[in-house]
Amino acid sequence: MLDALVRTLKWVAYNQRELIRTGFDSAETFQVELILPSYNERGSNHQVRFSKRRVAFFWNPEHFAEFHKARPEEIDVSSSYGFLKPYFGDESVFVTSGSGHAPAKQAVYRTIRQHMTIEADDLMFFSYSVLERFPTGVYPALKPIQEVTAAFLLRTVFDVQGSAATTTIEHAIAAAGNASGTFLILPDLVRWTRRWGVGLAIRRQRLHLRHFIMDQLQGMLVAHNWVDETPEAARTEIIDNLMTLLIAGFETTSTTIAWLLYELASNNDLQADLRSEVSERIRENPLDYFADDKTLLARTVQETLRLHPSIPFIIREVKAPITIGGVALRASDYAVLSIEEMHRRGFDGGTRFDPSRYQTATNLPKLATFGGGAKICPGRAIAVQQCRIIVSLLLAKYLIGTTDKTRSYIARNRVSATPAGGMLLKFDRIQ
Ligand code: HEM
Repeated sequence: MLDALVRTLKWVAYNQRELIRTGFDSAETFQVELILPSYNERGSNHQVRFSKRRVAFFWNPEHFAEFHKARPEEIDVSSSYGFLKPYFGDESVFVTSGSGHAPAKQAVYRTIRQHMTIEADDLMFFSYSVLERFPTGVYPALKPIQEVTAAFLLRTVFDVQGSAATTTIEHAIAAAGNASGTFLILPDLVRWTRRWGVGLAIRRQRLHLRHFIMDQLQGMLVAHNWVDETPEAARTEIIDNLMTLLIAGFETTSTTIAWLLYELASNNDLQADLRSEVSERIRENPLDYFADDKTLLARTVQETLRLHPSIPFIIREVKAPITIGGVALRASDYAVLSIEEMHRRGFDGGTRFDPSRYQTATNLPKLATFGGGAKICPGRAIAVQQCRIIVSLLLAKYLIGTTDKTRSYIARNRVSATPAGGMLLKFDRIQ
């Protein structure tokens, strides 16, 4: 027990990604025992019980496939994301488990298909947003990138812009920034601490976002009074899923773009080649260019999704005994699937940023950046488009460089691969 306690403190205090990496250096899969709080909610009574639980780590793509194929009774896709409820809401597709997951997912796909198409006037709006938010100078690029990507989602899903959008963006950025990766290892902890009011700030932001979403729905659906006519449970599901789209849809994409700009800022030749391609193809037909998978732009985005997956690992809770990768998992064990290590260990020269690998090599392993199976990311196509568009517009307008203070490591224990210091870069406007 003491051993597990010491190990738990180490996992909370140290850099978890580093611990995972060194663990895989000596074995393809490994397990650690941690003391984790279990949380039961019975009416208004909360019970917290600490117990030893095993966490098993995997990176091999074949093991990932086995997880994605497992039955929901064996591996519950969402149960380990309970810690995200304070941000997304109890009915969000991200946290609904069992039979509630499939309908919530269909609803999310429907929303994405209905709203998230990119047209010529969206590009004008983007172009304007980029110029407005990126002054010449040296500053952390992540913040303006987040503002532009969040503005994109607000425009496409809710069809709003202007000051309402600006305040909402600020709240969404703060809410997403609150989610700490420590809770991925201790998933019950947030739920437990909510009891003591620790999540007050989070709840305030969530309330603001909910009001915003409610107002928008009222405005959109004036033809009938949706609040009176939609049952309470369905209303909650709609709002929670829109909130999930709003937060899940910009945090991950903006992190990817920040790392992509870092790679371009560190490689002047690649930056110049990409700028030439962008100038030529945007003049011809921008929408065709962004949809084309064979361009240098597409390869550069793909390589960023490989080397800098914005969700470095995903987590699953085991519900019934199952053997994966030779590891006999027991009910209540956790499994961590390290996307980041899979992408580094599964590719030749995996730690090198090299967009040309997709040109020269065939039969490369498939990327796991967007997960797989029942929980695969429903926003993956739009995320790729968003990265291609924002990077192109930035390259057309700015020379991007690093400074001696630019840091290329991930802030410790975040949910997404947030660059430390918000990715300090230098932007020079091209006249
Ligand atoms: C580069 C950008 C993105 C990355 C790397 C990413 C990655 C992921 C991953 C790995 C998962 C699965 C988590 C798991 O298996 O446990 C996921 C789920 C999800 N993503 Fe994304 N995502 C991105 C962009 C987006 C966008 C733009 C949207 C919405 C417009 C979105 C909405 C969602 C939602 C709603 C889920 C939950 C799906 C479910 O629970 O079944 N994501 N994402």
